[in-house]
Amino acid sequence: MRDQPAVLRIAIMNTKGGCGKTTVATNLASYCAAQGCATALFDYDRQASSTRWLNIRQDSLPFIHGVAAFEPPKDGITRAWQMALPAGTQYVIADTPAGYSAIDIEDRVAEADVILIPILPSSIDIHCTADFIHDLLLIGKARTLNKRLGIIANRTRAHTRAADKLEYFLQDLDIPVIGRIRDTQHYVSAVEQGVGIHELAERDARKDAATWEGLLTWLDSSQQTIKSISEELRNCSGTAA
Ligand SMILES: Nc1ncnc2c1ncn2[C@@H]1O[C@H](COP(=O)(O)OP(=O)(O)O)[C@@H](O)[C@H]1O
Ligand SMILES: [Mg+2]
Repeated sequence: MRDQPAVLRIAIMNTKGGCGKTTVATNLASYCAAQGCATALFDYDRQASSTRWLNIRQDSLPFIHGVAAFEPPKDGITRAWQMALPAGTQYVIADTPAGYSAIDIEDRVAEADVILIPILPSSIDIHCTADFIHDLLLIGKARTLNKRLGIIANRTRAHTRAADKLEYFLQDLDIPVIGRIRDTQHYVSAVEQGVGIHELAERDARKDAATWEGLLTWLDSSQQTIKSISEELRNCSGTAA
């Protein structure tokens, strides 16, 4: 089990549809759970793809606590109760919707420690993501609020014009590229089976576990940075008092 005492809240965001938010949310959640970490998956998207994925996930697989956060609480339950985390939760992963009308950028940013932004190698996706990042900083105040941001380049194929364009765009951003997800049908079959790619039986899919291990390592180091910043802030306010 990883040494990760405090809860880390991770929002997967991009207003562009189809860029891989649910793919990242479900694979990251199942990878964290497989490492023995108590993991929760919050689904803010009315399309409920993550919720459906969790509903077909077999009980024999590492447990993930699911919350259909897009739904109002059921009768007799308060919103606070619906959103409550089981004791000891280490990672909270939030899948969010596409489009500006469905997503509440300010709230999602405020609640997150880390924001992961999947992006596809296409001109349209690059344009939309550039606009989204602009809003994340301006409306969500992601930098002012000290949120950690990371880009995930999804469905990357080397040596294509689209991939070159994406690399060019990413080099210009002041946000690190923390992962690259290869384009493979294994992601499509994993989501249909309620598993992460590392849980597929296919031998060829096992090498993708390294992608998720890399992401988790980056998240853990972010957790350390967040901890040091809050300790510094606490010390400063202590000194000032
Ligand atoms: N790396 C990948 N390789 C192959 N298919 C992918 C990959 N990432 C996403 N997909 C597929 O693309 C579609 C859209 O991805 P999804 O994660 O649902 O995007 P979003 O949640 O941002 O709308 C899904 O059918 C998904 O299985
Ligand atoms: Mg989705």
